[in-house]
Amino acid sequence: MLRFPVRFLRSHKLLSTRLCYSQHSEASDVFKKYPSASSFANVTSDANNSQQTQQTTESNTKDSNNTQSETHFGYKTVPEHEKQKMVHEVFRNVADKYDLMNDLMSGTMHRIWKDQMIGDHYRPQIGGTYLDVAGGTGDVAFRIAEYLKRQHLNAPNSGLTSRVIVSDINANMLEVGRQKSIELNLHKWEHHGVKLDWLEGNAEDLSETIPDRSIDGYTIAFGIRNVTHIDKAIKEAHRVLKPGGQFLCLEFSQVYPIALRQFYDWYSFNIIPKIGQVVANDHDSYQYLVESIRQFPPQERFKQMIQDAGFKNVRYTSLTFGVVALHSGIKL
Ligand SMILES: C[S@@+](CC[C@H](N)C(=O)[O-])C[C@H]1O[C@@H](n2cnc3c(N)ncnc32)[C@H](O)[C@@H]1O
Repeated sequence: MLRFPVRFLRSHKLLSTRLCYSQHSEASDVFKKYPSASSFANVTSDANNSQQTQQTTESNTKDSNNTQSETHFGYKTVPEHEKQKMVHEVFRNVADKYDLMNDLMSGTMHRIWKDQMIGDHYRPQIGGTYLDVAGGTGDVAFRIAEYLKRQHLNAPNSGLTSRVIVSDINANMLEVGRQKSIELNLHKWEHHGVKLDWLEGNAEDLSETIPDRSIDGYTIAFGIRNVTHIDKAIKEAHRVLKPGGQFLCLEFSQVYPIALRQFYDWYSFNIIPKIGQVVANDHDSYQYLVESIRQFPPQERFKQMIQDAGFKNVRYTSLTFGVVALHSGIKL
């Protein structure tokens, strides 16, 4: 019964932070000594990476300038080439308070949804490579790593290494996640056969760092609605997956029944931006988050988009009356 409050307090450093801090400097050294030995990409850590994000954003802008298309940013209509920059700004602003805000806004429900996503719907195999896109501060990737660690402990002589890659377009989010992984000692799990890498990249185009058919499982949680071209991101997931690989997407969705939706809308529009203002001193970013949820396609329409990208066995499960939905598909 006390598990949630204790996890909540611990994870926001309101309880027993001493241990975390004492491990921190040692762990940072480990990261400096052994920046990823990754065959695909470099671990992100420094200012160069922020520059890279800026360049990616700018090149998207140039490409899209030619088409003069418009898209939505929450309820605003914006030039398509502007959206990525605006989303980037949102997550740059909220990165430090992102985890705390998630707990407060959802009453820690996001943890249960993520536990269900990885615990009940995903079957990573030791020796595999698992990519978590728009992985932010690492919540989903950490669950995958933990799942794999348990498998490795059950097969101590396998001689295999499993790889979990956290990818995100925003260096600030990744940096918060990397620090968290150090505090949780995840960087030491390589001894157990689980290697965690951090990679800055746009979900729409990972071709510079992730080869075709190289990934055993692709996850994306609460990320895809922020992407400018959702169809491109799903196609990219299809490209990077090996045949037989699983696509799994957790995203806010459409609430049923209507009466509950009305209450949920009231809560979202009246309470969440206010919490954002008080806790993160940022009303507008949370107003965008609430609005972006309403712009995201409902369950059936998103299912169709996943099928259109070429996935088979496409299905979804609505969780908590459809507040979120878990969509999955297989690349054959
Ligand atoms: C709501 S957070 C979700 C983070 C994490 N997956 C979680 O569940 O806690 C959305 C993340 O999507 C990232 N993002 C937005 N647009 C992206 C894009 N085009 N490519 C990759 N990541 C993107 C943001 O930087 C942010 O970290």
